[in-house]
Order: sequence, then C-alpha cells, then structure tokens
Amino acid sequence: MSYPRVSTLKTPELFQSRLDQLGVTLHFDTHLELGPSAPLARPCQAGPDTIGNRFCILPMEGWDGTPDGRPTELTQRRWSNFGRSGAKLIWGGEAVAVRHDGRANPNQLLLNDRTFADIVGLRELLEQTHRREFGTTDDLLVGLQLTHSGRYAKPNDKTKAEPRTAYRHPVLDPRLKITDDSPLLSDADLERLIDDFVVAARLSRRAGFRFVDIKHCHGYLGHELLSGYDRPGKFGGSLENRTRFLREITAGIRAEAPGLELGVRVSVFDFVPFQPGPDRTGIPSQTGGYRYAFGGDGTGQGIDLSEPRAFLALLRELRIHLVCTTAGSPYYNPHIQRPAMFPPSDGYQPPEDPLVGVARQIQATADLKREFPDLVVVGSGYSYLQEWLPNVGQRAVRDGAVDLVGLGRMVLSYPELPADVLAGRELARKKICRTFSDCTTAPRNGLVSGCYPLDPFYKDRPERDQLLTLKQAAEK
Ligand SMILES: Cc1cc2nc3c(=O)[nH]c(=O)nc-3n(C[C@H](O)[C@H](O)[C@H](O)COP(=O)(O)O)c2cc1C
Repeated sequence: MSYPRVSTLKTPELFQSRLDQLGVTLHFDTHLELGPSAPLARPCQAGPDTIGNRFCILPMEGWDGTPDGRPTELTQRRWSNFGRSGAKLIWGGEAVAVRHDGRANPNQLLLNDRTFADIVGLRELLEQTHRREFGTTDDLLVGLQLTHSGRYAKPNDKTKAEPRTAYRHPVLDPRLKITDDSPLLSDADLERLIDDFVVAARLSRRAGFRFVDIKHCHGYLGHELLSGYDRPGKFGGSLENRTRFLREITAGIRAEAPGLELGVRVSVFDFVPFQPGPDRTGIPSQTGGYRYAFGGDGTGQGIDLSEPRAFLALLRELRIHLVCTTAGSPYYNPHIQRPAMFPPSDGYQPPEDPLVGVARQIQATADLKREFPDLVVVGSGYSYLQEWLPNVGQRAVRDGAVDLVGLGRMVLSYPELPADVLAGRELARKKICRTFSDCTTAPRNGLVSGCYPLDPFYKDRPERDQLLTLKQAAEK
C-alpha cells in the first residue's frame, strides 16, 4: 500500500481533499499569521514561568553519550540546535536515565554526581545559543526528561536487552525472550527507584533546569506501570496503585527539591503491538481483545480516554501543570507514535496513511485539553505534516486544541523551522523532514542517531554508508 506524499498536496484544496478521502478531521489555517499576537507567537503562562511562544522541542535522544553517561560533541550539537530553533519550551532535551540499569542503550545520558557538570554544560550551551540568536532567555523554559527504560533497558551492550518489567506481558515478553519472572521489579525495587528519581530531580534543580519530566510514555517503565492491571501489590491493579510510582516521586521531589516544577510526558492512548504481515504491512499481533493498552478501549485498536482523563485530573491535584501528550511506543506500534511514510528497518510498512496517525494524536490531545484548560498541554506527532505543519499547528493553538506544538523529527533535519515560521520566512523545503526513519534505523543498528538524509553534517559521517548497507541488506 502506498499513500500520496504530503509534498504533492501543494494547495489547501489538495490537502483538504486528501483528508476528506481519508475521512479524517484535521483543521488547518490557510494563511499563517504574523506578529506578536499571532497564535504561534503569543506567550503562554506555565505556573510562575512564561514561555515566549508556542513551539516546543520534544525530547530527542541521539544514542551518542559516553559509556559513563556524559554528552559528546554530537549531543552538544543537537542541544545547541534546540537552542537556535527559536522554540521557547525545551521539553526535556532527551531521555536521561536516573541510574545505570535504566539506560535504554549504553550511550544514553545518565544523571549523577559524576556527570553533573557535563549536564549543566549542555543546558548552558543551549541557553547561550538561544541568547545569541534571540537576545534573551527570560522567556525560555528548559526542563530535563528523567527516565528508567524498564522493559527496553540495554545498559551495557547495544545488542543485549536487560529488561526490568512491571508485569508479565503475553505479547511483549516473548518478543524479548522473557520466559520467567526474573526481570520483574518488586515493590521494594520500585521504592528504591523512586528514591533515585528524587535524587536525580534534586541534581536537575541544582543543574539549573526549571522542571523535570517524569517520563510516562513509549513503553518505558513509567508508562508500563500505568497498564499494570494484573500486577499484584501496591503498584498494580487499581488506577490509584498504578499511579503510586508517580505520586511517590512527586512527593519526594516536593520535599527534596522545592521550587522545581514538574511535567509528565504520557502516552495518552496505546494499541496492541503490531508486527509485519506477509507483505511487510503492519498487522496487529493479536486480535480479539487486548487489555494492556493504557487509554485503549479493550479492542487493541481503539481509544478510551477515561483513564488518561483521570490521570490528568491527578496531575492537576498534584499541582503538575505541564503535560506532553504522545501515544503508543516506538518499539511495538511506531505508526501510532511517530507516523512515517518509510518505516525503520526493523519496523513494518504503514498500515494506514500516516496522516491518520497524526490526526489521531491531535484529536486525543484536543479532547483532553478541552477538559483541562488550566493545564499547559504540548502535542506531539506533527512532523509528518511537513509543509502543512505550521498551518495545522497554528489552527490547533488558535482553537485551544493544544497550547504548544511539539517538534520531534523535524528539529533534526530543520532546527530553524520555528524561527522561520515566526519571522514569516518561507520554509526551506530541502530541510523538511520526509520521515525516512533513518534517525530510528541507525540506533536500532547500534549507530548514532541524526538526520542522515537531509542534515549535511550527518550526510558526511561514515555511519551513513554503514546505514545504507544495512538498509539494503534489510530489504533483501
Ligand atoms: C531519534 C528519536 C529520538 C527520540 N528520543 C526521545 C526521547 O529521548 N524521549 C521521548 O520522550 N521521546 C523521544 N522520541 C519521540 C519524539 O519526542 C516524538 O514524540 C516523536 O518523534 C513524534 O513527534 P514528531 O512527529 O515531531 O517526530 C524520539 C524520537 C526519535 C525519532
């Protein structure tokens, strides 16, 4: 199955007619507004902090830290690009592990006393770059994403999974060759981990970050706990128990790092894991009901926002005002998480026009935002919109369907997009992310991530040839 490329939908009429064909509701503005009162340029208040405009850089890892968890020049380049993007909210920079066994790869950043100064350096670099380009950082809000990768931990060897799980999973356990209870985290293990999150949050505050994101998305531990319906004990079963991890971390941070703001990035819906079908198009790995999708309706491919709604109500109660919505997981259903025309090498061909996936995330976010107008909500999954990203983003902000437009893959190929849009400059078409997924394929094969097709810096790196060879081999 192939789908019309977004770059061919050159006029508003063509774009709208494709959406109509798909039966998808996705509102967009035909003209972009300019000036300080334009929807994307207006500041946004987040508790005590002012965010200078409506663009947010989503956390984007590069698999390029040192083995002991410090940034390298590649990490610094990426953070510096975040700074010169013009976006005024930096949601976490990238996933940073709170301790070694929670790293998703042996090159993931780690926050502890030994890496502290280097992590401070990253934030300072981002802010210096931003100040140089835009004159001030008074309205720039920078947070750090704290994580434990749980089921997807690979702390020591790129090829060796060392999962730490919340519960036995009928589909995902076999995929990771888990055959017994040994990877399960006990309640006592989780209590220790809560302490590690609090220690990392304290360090984050000292490092000058305004907030930390307690990551609850993409199949990593925080997210997996939310679907621990069958987990016995105090961290499983009821929603109250499944959110105990978050509540205890929050209480610890309030006590140990007062003044530090909190945010949560959460997969607000999930589907059953997918796999390649006979022609490599993605198919659900099981049919006839699926009970492990947080925000799912029990069918495996439908949404029920009742629990995510209760989760956001809890955030409000905990005085957590910053929320970033996302969906699913890049490991088991990437088409709902990061809609793409070209799958990563270990993925599957898109089972739907990726525009459907974009609209699904935008709609779910809008439904939640309307019920929680007081929360600052950042949306995700916009990169596939390509030329239409600013038009859809402006409309979503204007309609109150989201507060900030999050940028993920687009910022790897085209970091200056927010600045260009806000200044009314024409988009640099050659830099627009076309969702080739090399930024995902590379790390899946042990290489650093980056935009190999479009960023001249990565085009020139030796890994590009390795990547081409790997992709050719995967296609055979
Ligand atoms: C290479 C790569 C690295 C990513 N790293 C992270 C991460 O560290 N933390 C996180 O929450 N999401 C991460 N994501 C997901 C993105 O933040 C974002 O949700 C996703 O790419 C969809 O947004 P987009 O359509 O703008 O790309 C990553 C995505 C990619 C492609």
